[in-house]
Amino acid sequence: MCGIVGYIGPKNPVEVLVEGLRRLEYRGYDSAGIAVVDEDGNVAIRRAAGKLRDLEKVIADRPLRGEYGIGHTRWATHGRPTEENAHPHRDCTGRLVVIHNGIIENYLELKHELEALGHRFVTETDTEIVAHALEQRMKETGEGLAEAFRAVLPRLRGIYALVALSADAPRTLVAGRLGPPLVVGLGRGEWFVASDIPAVLSHTKDVVFLDDHETVVITPEGPEFFRTDGTPVPRTPTRIPWDPIMAEKGGYRHFMLKEIHEQARAVRDTLLNRVSVESAEVLLPDLRVQEESLRRAERAVIVACGTSWHAGHVGKFLLEHLARIPVSVDYASEYRYRKPIVGDRVLPIFISQSGETADTLAAQRYARSEGAQTLAICNVRGSMLTREATGTIYTLAGPEIGVASTKAFTSQIVALCLLALKLGRVRGTLDEAEARDFVRHLYHVPVQMERYLVSDGLVREIAKTFCEHRDFLYLGRGVNYPIALEGALKLKEISYIHAEGYPAGEMKHGPIALIDESMPVVALAPHDAVYEKMLANIEEVKARSGVVIAVTDEEDEDLARRADFVILVPKTHPMLAPLLLVLPLQLLAYHIALLRGCDVDQPRNLAKSVTVE
Ligand code: AGP
Repeated sequence: MCGIVGYIGPKNPVEVLVEGLRRLEYRGYDSAGIAVVDEDGNVAIRRAAGKLRDLEKVIADRPLRGEYGIGHTRWATHGRPTEENAHPHRDCTGRLVVIHNGIIENYLELKHELEALGHRFVTETDTEIVAHALEQRMKETGEGLAEAFRAVLPRLRGIYALVALSADAPRTLVAGRLGPPLVVGLGRGEWFVASDIPAVLSHTKDVVFLDDHETVVITPEGPEFFRTDGTPVPRTPTRIPWDPIMAEKGGYRHFMLKEIHEQARAVRDTLLNRVSVESAEVLLPDLRVQEESLRRAERAVIVACGTSWHAGHVGKFLLEHLARIPVSVDYASEYRYRKPIVGDRVLPIFISQSGETADTLAAQRYARSEGAQTLAICNVRGSMLTREATGTIYTLAGPEIGVASTKAFTSQIVALCLLALKLGRVRGTLDEAEARDFVRHLYHVPVQMERYLVSDGLVREIAKTFCEHRDFLYLGRGVNYPIALEGALKLKEISYIHAEGYPAGEMKHGPIALIDESMPVVALAPHDAVYEKMLANIEEVKARSGVVIAVTDEEDEDLARRADFVILVPKTHPMLAPLLLVLPLQLLAYHIALLRGCDVDQPRNLAKSVTVE
């Protein structure tokens, strides 16, 4: 949940680190700090509570220079978000510093042990004990930084991505992980270590994803990889296909708005060369789950968190409709602790934009330990989820930086469409004509998205009307019910307005009690098999003086008469409607958040990748 970056190379490390932190700020923005070492072995640290811009002010007031260094942007777990608790953290000498992402559960025990040996602690964090433990180990054994680092790691209980440097080990960075991600960037004569690819992308596309229980020692000669027991590990780099420009705002005011507008491209890329319009044949090169297993599967379970869980819920409808396989959808945080039944006739599917969400990783590990072949749907090539899965369907959304997921969501739905088509064909539940019709509609979606996204005037007007309201209700039916959940989540997370998503038919069993003239109700009402039912639900809202914002796919007087506002999106295959209906909901949340003066890309209390439980 924090962002880590380290650099050794010929460039000014202060600039590289601050730039890297800018690209990682979506991971946490409670405080930030950097440490650099100069040619005389002096360690200089600058830290600030608040966002990266606060650190930049500190650096402008008290400039520092050095040859190499490390930087950190924090999402607070242990200790308040103050300057004292900002990373990097030092040992007693101030010559050894550490940055950390994760939680060290036994830090109090280690702290008492080190205090008894004379160490003095100055922060409330769990991280500080690592600096002191390293100092102690080096003093006691005479080991160098890398050996001491490998000796200390097994003593830590919990999860970590850690990077350390010591003025006594010149031009050396050591890093290790257990849980939260770390990538090592391999440039030309320059080396990076970071929590995520965007931090290194403007310097190199060649990265090595560090494995759990693996460490790296980076010197000007390059990185060397070791297991925690000291055994060297040969690693080959992965080439990231992303363009550095993809991680820029590109003229948009926020990443979220840019990413909303990138959806047509993301969907097109996720589809292209993977399904034939002529034959509806699906080609998924990284699927790796044998066709026989797909054919034999008696049921599927989709496991994910947050927005990815909503995509999974849409996936349930797609898989059940096209492949006639029963599907359950589970929150990863529930699944992992429930000891669910996984047999060789179950197909578990794990969805994650980042591929690093702790609960989703743990859930997949559980399924693997029960002998299942697992399938990941993921946006980050080489991430932990994909490395541990039997097979993967990559979403080709490109880097998603806004904390509120948008283009990853629609790309996940497209990946699920491909899977549903594949399963439907393999299992013989989908005839070719129906499959071709579905694919034809699917290929048309990007153009329809572009067409809808050219103008958001009406959504802005609706946002102005309702931005001061305190509660919203979102209603949908069938495959669009998860879109009601997603619309509500988008609004909650970036505008801090309370919102609930409900299956429209359930409204009368409770939420209807909430409805009055101050309750905007967003009703998803495409002209599908349950359209009439939706109209009836809208009537129920109107009868209680509720305000209705309807989203539909055809001009319709009946609806216009009942709803206070009608948003029109292009019409598609009923099972693909989520891909278009979600667009105005994303924009509505965006414009409301903007009008309320909220930080759209970095909403309070949140972080993009949730790498802790
Ligand atoms: C979405 O807007 C959220 N920020 C969040 O719910 C997110 O989808 C969730 O944390 C899962 O992340 P993942 O897809 O990277 O696993």
